[in-house]
Amino acid sequence: MIIDPRSTEPLNLYKLLIGSVLPRPIAFVSTVGADGIYNLAPYSFFTAVSANPPILAFAPQLSAEGRRKDTLVNCERLGEFVVNVVSEDVVRQMNETAADFPPEVDEFEVSGLTPVPSEVVAVPRVKECHVAMECKLREIVQLSSLPMGGSLVLGEVVRIHVDDEYFDDFRIDPDKLRAVGRMAGSTYARTTDRFDLVRPGAVKKG
Ligand SMILES: Cc1cc2nc3c(=O)[nH]c(=O)nc-3n(C[C@H](O)[C@H](O)[C@H](O)COP(=O)(O)O)c2cc1C
Repeated sequence: MIIDPRSTEPLNLYKLLIGSVLPRPIAFVSTVGADGIYNLAPYSFFTAVSANPPILAFAPQLSAEGRRKDTLVNCERLGEFVVNVVSEDVVRQMNETAADFPPEVDEFEVSGLTPVPSEVVAVPRVKECHVAMECKLREIVQLSSLPMGGSLVLGEVVRIHVDDEYFDDFRIDPDKLRAVGRMAGSTYARTTDRFDLVRPGAVKKG
């Protein structure tokens, strides 16, 4: 099968992307709206793109009707957001926040998750998430203004919160964290089935 994106429906392109680029980590992004209302939503077009300084990137798409997501609007307005890491123990609450709520709905309340004040940014983190990264907006790159077109949100990490029992000499214990990834559709992946592959020339560090 050979596919030319120029003659393929956006929804089908989306299906091809999410079925091929996987598993995807999930940024559970908290933001604050113009009226001070807290917003929380998952974004799996997400990765880390720089370690020095630490920079994260995630990509809200325009809806099929061309509407901008609240997270994008809030990041642009306030210039701050928090990326919370999704573990198995918060996956159901995370899913609740992905419904298409209007901006006046506080998704912390909808999901029952607890907002905790951040250290540097004026956006709360999620208490139940074991890792959270406070970010200051670096740049928003609008890649498309078409329905389902993405913008890339780049944020510099200014504080990292890790629950003490998950942290050992700057390593995060994956068996405790039990982070989840997103596959296509409603399917998720666990991070507990792993294998090691030592790089040629590299010394295994345990
Ligand atoms: C696990 C998961 C990952 C998602 N990833 C994305 C994504 O990368 N980009 C996107 O635009 N929407 C994504 N969504 C959909 C948004 O979370 C959904 O549209 C949400 O209502 C947006 O909320 P907001 O308007 O408050 O930002 C994802 C949904 C789920 C459940």
